[in-house]
Amino acid sequence: MNEHVSDPYVHQAKLVGYRSRAAFKLLEANDKFNFLTKHMSVVDLGSAPGSWSQVLSNTLGSNGHIFALDLLEMELIKNVDFLKGDFREQEILDILVKKLGKTSLDLVISDMAPNISGIKSSDQAGIIHLNELALEFAVKWLKPNGCFLVKSFVGEDFDGFVAETRKQFEKVTTFKPKSSRDRSSEIFVFGRNRI
Ligand SMILES: C[S@@+](CC[C@H](N)C(=O)[O-])C[C@H]1O[C@@H](n2cnc3c(N)ncnc32)[C@H](O)[C@@H]1O
Repeated sequence: MNEHVSDPYVHQAKLVGYRSRAAFKLLEANDKFNFLTKHMSVVDLGSAPGSWSQVLSNTLGSNGHIFALDLLEMELIKNVDFLKGDFREQEILDILVKKLGKTSLDLVISDMAPNISGIKSSDQAGIIHLNELALEFAVKWLKPNGCFLVKSFVGEDFDGFVAETRKQFEKVTTFKPKSSRDRSSEIFVFGRNRI
């Protein structure tokens, strides 16, 4: 709680009107890799409460397509088409794909994370499973040269996941944003240009 109250990113998020400090992780990723453009089609996985979608909405306006999905409800964001459901379920995936219609994607971003149980091995297995599903989705629905950003945790099977991602994208980079808490094992993987 103390950490939250004294966190500069929490203050900044409040000031600017972002629903979560997570916005700064996406902004930092974009500063580093420069992948957000005005006319793109994007899927935002694990979108609630919605700060990444807010960043997308601010950047794209009504010029692109923004699809967002989360297990939890998310308050409306202008120009964001939200679907509530579990990305691991085929039925939800089918609804998302139906929403995409003929849109092929420029970018897939995933901030999905399981509820942290504190049991490291099971939390790790949970996020790697979500990472693999997000990668599979991205490879299937991204345009050639489309990009992929995904949050993971350093630990068992992370290197294997990065190796799988490297097979699908021209260049893959891992990085930890400054806005990611030091004690967190979270790390982001960015894939540029789907092969
Ligand atoms: C760190 S939060 C995302 C924050 C979000 N990027 C933002 O900027 O507001 C992780 C989200 O992943 C979602 N999530 C976890 N597992 C999921 C799943 N299987 N399907 C869909 N969403 C999932 C959680 O409900 C949670 O809202």
